[in-house]
Amino acid sequence: MAVPQKEEAPKLVVEGISKWFGDLEAIRSINASVKRGEFVSIVGPSGCGKTTFLRIIGGLESASGGSAHLDGKLIDGPGRDRGFVFQQDNLLPWRNVLSNAEIGPEIGGVKSPEQRSLTLKLLKLVGLAGFEKYYPRQLSGGMRQRVNLARALAVDPDLLLMDEPFSALDAQTREIMQSELLRIWEEGRKTVLFVTHQIDEAVFLSDRVFVFARRPGRLEEIIDIDLPRPRELSLKRTPEFVALVDRIWKLIEHDVRASVIEEHA
Ligand SMILES: Nc1ncnc2c1ncn2[C@@H]1O[C@H](COP(=O)(O)OP(=O)(O)O)[C@@H](O)[C@H]1O
Ligand SMILES: [Mg+2]
Repeated sequence: MAVPQKEEAPKLVVEGISKWFGDLEAIRSINASVKRGEFVSIVGPSGCGKTTFLRIIGGLESASGGSAHLDGKLIDGPGRDRGFVFQQDNLLPWRNVLSNAEIGPEIGGVKSPEQRSLTLKLLKLVGLAGFEKYYPRQLSGGMRQRVNLARALAVDPDLLLMDEPFSALDAQTREIMQSELLRIWEEGRKTVLFVTHQIDEAVFLSDRVFVFARRPGRLEEIIDIDLPRPRELSLKRTPEFVALVDRIWKLIEHDVRASVIEEHA
């Protein structure tokens, strides 16, 4: 007799997270949960609290209210169960690729042949085999972000937090990095929270898209992306894809226009 499958507990549970910076309400009461192995993107106009939210989940910033639990454990600071990839790569210029990628395990006190072979495997996975001895200044922007990604994966995090990791890259490199990221993700199926202000990037990568609104920053709507995987870049030209991008754009268009006008005022 078939045993009914018990619904797996969510990986990340966010309850009523809010954040004030002085008298600025940056984020208002965000509730959400993310499943194990799920790829979730967060989109929204500039200033809607995407980075603040990610930093709270990363434990780099404390919330003014509410709580977040990862695997049932309260998040109250940074930890090795979460890996971060930022927009600006923060590679150390005096360390080569391999030694930059190993910083996480090193800080955690893990220095072993097994860790070394895992890091080498990750560098290969991100397409940097043969570049282990190169220094950051010898690498292109795309390659530096690959090192960043390998570094974040080297601690084998339960949750990967990515804040506009490709926004400093040119359009073509960015597209290549998107499909590479999916290929890498398919291998390990990490749970990912990916912040971007590019809607097509969010749709292409994600299982679900969290649409944020501003003033105050809040989670306005959650969109399911029921597009088949594995995904190729040509998916972006299909009517289903375009329709999803269009739907999300309509949700945030008003806010984006307002934020652009403010920034140029
Ligand atoms: N450390 C800080 N101190 C004061 N205000 C901040 C700080 N960090 C962010 N903010 C403000 O909080 C709001 C949300 O910022 P942020 O999370 O960076 O938005 P996003 O990443 O969506 O562009 C903005 O109004 C921003 O100016
Ligand atoms: Mg930001």
